[in-house]
Amino acid sequence: MVSYETVKYFNAEPYEFNRYRGAVSDYQAAEYHVLFSLQLMNTCQNTVFMLGLLITCFICAFQIANGQRDVGQFVGLLTYMSQLQGPLNFFGTFYRSIQGAMINSERLLELFRAKPTVVDAPDVDELRSCNGGIEFDKVHFAYDSRKPALNGLSFECKPGTTTALVGESGGGKSTVFRLLFRFYNSTSGQIRVDGHPVESVSIDSLRRHIGVVPQDTVLFNETIMYNLKYANPGATDEDIYDACRAASIHDRILTFPDGYQTKVGERGLRLSGGEKQRVAIARTIIKNPRIILLDEATAALDTDTEEHIQGALATLSKGRTMLVIAHRLSTITTADQILVLQNGQVAEKGTHEQLLAMKGRYSSMWRKQIKAQRAAAEAQVLQDRAERLRSSSVVAGGGEDSSSQSDEDRHAETTARPRPTLSQRSTKASEAKPAGP
Ligand SMILES: Nc1ncnc2c1ncn2[C@@H]1O[C@H](COP(=O)(O)OP(=O)(O)OP(=O)(O)O)[C@@H](O)[C@H]1O
Ligand SMILES: [Mg+2]
Repeated sequence: MVSYETVKYFNAEPYEFNRYRGAVSDYQAAEYHVLFSLQLMNTCQNTVFMLGLLITCFICAFQIANGQRDVGQFVGLLTYMSQLQGPLNFFGTFYRSIQGAMINSERLLELFRAKPTVVDAPDVDELRSCNGGIEFDKVHFAYDSRKPALNGLSFECKPGTTTALVGESGGGKSTVFRLLFRFYNSTSGQIRVDGHPVESVSIDSLRRHIGVVPQDTVLFNETIMYNLKYANPGATDEDIYDACRAASIHDRILTFPDGYQTKVGERGLRLSGGEKQRVAIARTIIKNPRIILLDEATAALDTDTEEHIQGALATLSKGRTMLVIAHRLSTITTADQILVLQNGQVAEKGTHEQLLAMKGRYSSMWRKQIKAQRAAAEAQVLQDRAERLRSSSVVAGGGEDSSSQSDEDRHAETTARPRPTLSQRSTKASEAKPAGP
């Protein structure tokens, strides 16, 4: 049911209908076998019982006719036989319920047999306190041995700094997070937190110090409040409201008919992408960890909300180590270091200015994004102008035209520079290198 939109997008109702019909026919065929065997068993059981009753009645009647027994004993026999029939029928239903229980327990045993791939070593310590230092030392990892995801990745994040990971899609950015959070073990190399190899501390204690805002947030089909309190069941309602204010979602939640008691639907289906991301950010603020991993955490937000959240994240990052994955480079210009990942390795490393001066992969990505943003902003300005001209030609009277013109020009200026930091940097960038490959 969660994928119903995909079915509609591709007009796949007949295909799904046939798939469902096939499944129902298979079920009916299997059910026919079960019912047939059950009825056969019942018939056999009843036949055996009736034959037994018939034979004993004949023998008893014969003995009464011979005068060996009296009629009272015949009545006694009938009473015993009818009392025996109940428990024998019960055995039939008992057999059926045992069969059902066996099938269920088989599934359960299969689950028990599955071994987790990442488990604590026998002699691990607890990671009691955490400053937030992270080191990746020649880490190799592959989901499938034929295609490595990380190829000797090495980098270091000092406690309290912000590191941004950028690079092509599939370059291994999310994989870095998954390894640090111990969803997988690296094939070789070492990942250290505060100098401790992650394998030497318990998974539970490590995860307690790390907060993650994943690339696609999954929520429980419960109320928003339940999902928020999941990060810290001991948090008061006021803490939750504060975190939501910091994540710019509090006012939005209050506009929902049921407020914080709104059910979010399967996997959070009833919230928009941006709302879900903000709930995930609020949840991480509530968890209050030393290390924060943000995987495209602001990708689904409009520019205004994003600026709000960038502010909240800047406050949140004080004294904490942040690892940020971003495709929109304008959001990470202030990071302490930026790592450009390519084929599971660090291709370039430095601050925004250093990387631009390097004129390598990062600076070309930056130029392309600026060009695209400018083009989008200019298109928006032209569209606005066309709309205004159209409406002013409909509404007769020129008194407001001059004011709307100046408004529009002002608007043109602001939209041509989408974000203050971005525009400053972009002029710097274009001054440094006006054109190039
Ligand atoms: N669970 C998985 N099983 C097998 N292969 C995977 C799995 N997750 C990711 N991969 C593969 O590992 C490589 C790195 O994936 P990763 O998710 O780290 O990319 P990414 O840099 O985060 O990309 P994006 O920017 O698109 O999110 C990809 O080639 C991907 O196909
Ligand atoms: Mg990713």
